[in-house]
Amino acid sequence: MSKPRVFVTRVIPEPGLALLRDSCDLVIWPDELPPSYDTLRAEAARSEGLLTLLSDPIDAALINAAPSLRVISQMAVGVDNIDLAAATARGIPVGHTPGALTETTADLAFALLMAAARRLPEAERFVHAGQWRTWGPMLLLGQDVHGATLGIVGMGRIGLAVARRAQGFAMRIIYYSRHESPEARALGAEYLPLDEVFAQADFISLHTPLTPETYHLVNDRAFALMKPTAVLINTARGGVIDPDALYRALSTGKIAAAALDVTEPEPIPPDSPLLTLDNCLIVPHIGSASVATRTRIAVMAAENLLAGLRGERLPHCANPQVYERQ
Ligand code: DGY
Repeated sequence: MSKPRVFVTRVIPEPGLALLRDSCDLVIWPDELPPSYDTLRAEAARSEGLLTLLSDPIDAALINAAPSLRVISQMAVGVDNIDLAAATARGIPVGHTPGALTETTADLAFALLMAAARRLPEAERFVHAGQWRTWGPMLLLGQDVHGATLGIVGMGRIGLAVARRAQGFAMRIIYYSRHESPEARALGAEYLPLDEVFAQADFISLHTPLTPETYHLVNDRAFALMKPTAVLINTARGGVIDPDALYRALSTGKIAAAALDVTEPEPIPPDSPLLTLDNCLIVPHIGSASVATRTRIAVMAAENLLAGLRGERLPHCANPQVYERQ
């Protein structure tokens, strides 16, 4: 019996690929950069399974031009690059990897928070540039994290994991989410309207998915509400922040600093004005980038894919409505 053809859009950790090798006719895109849209579309058109990354645009045209496609499995929790409605309409389940990267991403959010608060990138550049001449009473003064107010926007799994870390720093935790969270209440976090979170927080950490409602949620209006000492952290999706408004806010002192793991667009263009600012720390979307977590999510993605090829319910499905229509 012939094996189902599966296109994997990049080299992923081997334990994930190993699960697929025996039962699939595996085609792995070998480059560091993603396949072009046309290549992706041509590969999808010949495949029964796709294992994708968040940088692959899986739109309705691609899905509808892939007659044999039976499952899409994304090695990430966020699936904003995939047209879920189009997949559902075609009866194609879309897998993703919730839960597995929660703690690792929360670790990075807290690392960014601390680095921006204490101006670590600037301090490091200062030393490397040979500018450290003496102990300076006014040198590189930052902000205290302990005892400060942390505002969390989006109190899902990762937001809660960040809140637990903040407890260790005796922070006051306030949050906005679509619904009040009993788990957040148990951590002592206060549920407030979004504008109040923007206005009261010393540190604002974003943990919402990117949806039409959250696109550019942090815009000029939001920055106008924030404290001039506020620090904004984004480990969610770049599109949640309006980058032009962020530049205005950082360059005019409306807020003190930002620390971003995600940008709009991604990667950030080398001529982005944000890259000229000392108070804007940017890292290249490494929220889940630990060896253990990337291995775990590669395995989860492979398991979702295999379940889809076998016609079984995906262990982690981003469009469960697909099962209602059968
Ligand atoms: C996700 O899983 O959505 C992350 O952004 C990738 O680490």
